[in-house]
Amino acid sequence: MAYTIEHYPTRLIDVWTLADGRRVTVRPVLPQDAALEQALVRALSPAARCQRFFAPIRELPEGWLRALTQIDYRRHQALIAECFDGDEALPVAEARYIVDADGDEAEFAVVVVDDWQRLGLARRLLGSLIAQAARSGLKRLRGDVLATNRAMLDLAQSLGFRARRHPDGGAQVLRIVLDLPSRVPMGLGRDAAVSPAAAAPASAVRH
Ligand SMILES: CC(C)(COP(=O)(O)OP(=O)(O)OC[C@H]1O[C@@H](n2cnc3c(N)ncnc32)[C@H](O)[C@@H]1OP(=O)(O)O)[C@@H](O)C(=O)NCCC(=O)NCCS
Repeated sequence: MAYTIEHYPTRLIDVWTLADGRRVTVRPVLPQDAALEQALVRALSPAARCQRFFAPIRELPEGWLRALTQIDYRRHQALIAECFDGDEALPVAEARYIVDADGDEAEFAVVVVDDWQRLGLARRLLGSLIAQAARSGLKRLRGDVLATNRAMLDLAQSLGFRARRHPDGGAQVLRIVLDLPSRVPMGLGRDAAVSPAAAAPASAVRH
């Protein structure tokens, strides 16, 4: 049975060939991706899980899975990268952002399964999200990164993010911020404003 999902950003669907020749399909997350999201989290090393979720979790609770997969493609954008073993889809990376209640800024997060790191996946996923955020009229993207997370800090710096102290004052987490270009490419207007009442806290990006 055919069905449509409102606002599903088909322009973000793509197939990428990575530096080692492996190919992945990249697409916006769908409501039926809960099992795939859980498989991604289970496939991460404990260190990667901690860097992504700031907590020593082994898998995602039901409520988090819902929050990660039932998204509106406006204030919440999420991309998943998967490879295929025959008919079976294996998740290898994901990236997302969630827009703040004021509609100007979004918090992002990204994670790549260990065996798929250093192939340019995170750079490309973030590139897609940065372009999408700019098209949507967002002014800034930010992320919270453990101060010991050299890989993410180096990647962020190479993408133009500035690292600063976290507003909560702790030394263990840095805030990285990227100012987005105000020019909206290809005449695409700013997406419809998001109702603050409908907005979940941006910290949900950690889920
Ligand atoms: C950080 C992370 C997302 C990078 O993913 P990735 O797909 O391996 O990154 P890329 O291959 O796109 O690398 C891009 C750049 O990041 C930097 N980088 C990535 N991994 C690195 C590492 N292990 N050490 C140092 N720099 C690294 C490099 O500058 C790299 O460019 P280069 O390969 O040309 O040197 C990945 O290590 C990860 O999932 N970590 C755990 C989760 C996490 O930390 N998420 C961030 C919280 S928001």
